[in-house]
Amino acid sequence: MASFEENGFLLVENYASGEEVDELRAQMEKLLAEIELDHHSVFSTNVQTQTSDRYFLESGDKIRCFFESIDLKDGQDKSLKINKVGHALHDLNEVFERFSYKQALLDIALQFGHEEPAIIQSQYIFKSPKVGGNVSPHTDSTFLYTEPLSCLGAWIALEDVDEENACLWGLPGSHTEYPLYNRFKRNESNDGTLFEDLVERKDKWKLSGAVPLVAKKGDLILLHGSNVHMSEANQSERSRNAYVLHLVDLAAEYPADNWLQREELPLRKMREVV
Ligand code: FE2
Repeated sequence: MASFEENGFLLVENYASGEEVDELRAQMEKLLAEIELDHHSVFSTNVQTQTSDRYFLESGDKIRCFFESIDLKDGQDKSLKINKVGHALHDLNEVFERFSYKQALLDIALQFGHEEPAIIQSQYIFKSPKVGGNVSPHTDSTFLYTEPLSCLGAWIALEDVDEENACLWGLPGSHTEYPLYNRFKRNESNDGTLFEDLVERKDKWKLSGAVPLVAKKGDLILLHGSNVHMSEANQSERSRNAYVLHLVDLAAEYPADNWLQREELPLRKMREVV
């Protein structure tokens, strides 16, 4: 608890068992075989240029597939181009639902200040060997804004992750410097997105102070919504699969201009599902 308050992130070792992780990975393989992959929505992993097409905007309560923007080299397997699957795996797929709505995660959310936790977003991130792109420095509350701020990230390693296969890097204490620099939101015509700067940021984050968030398969990294984090491109021969859940507090207000909206599927109180 003290280390989370000081750093803005916390490693929870052995959050998931090896069997649970293997089940998720197997389920994703099954899903990929079923998902229609002909709509190639590109998800640029540089969050400053994130794609904002309808396929992306409507994905808040669906299971959709997003791709890396780079071209594969000759002979590279096409499946390596998948960047992620999101954003409602936790509500639409039985295996992911069972894994996501666990008492342990509800307890974590309650312990870290939520009154009425809800899982707003799930993402299965592939970060394929030699193909998975970088994710530029950002805070999660930029994308999942509530009033007051309440976003919590639960980043679960689906295999061992370290500096070689492009683990997360976190900037210790960055959540205490400023709560929110910008918002990624829908535009007024509701057909695209934009970044709205909330403060004039003259001096950039001191990224040289970032530390690698190394984790073993099954570990969970809890991220404060105002913590600055990022990851490099994966230049190794190893993949770096992760399952990432984001939670918000239903006691806070979730604005209608947040990029992620649920059109058909109501948001569920975690404690009513667990
Ligand atoms: Fe993030």
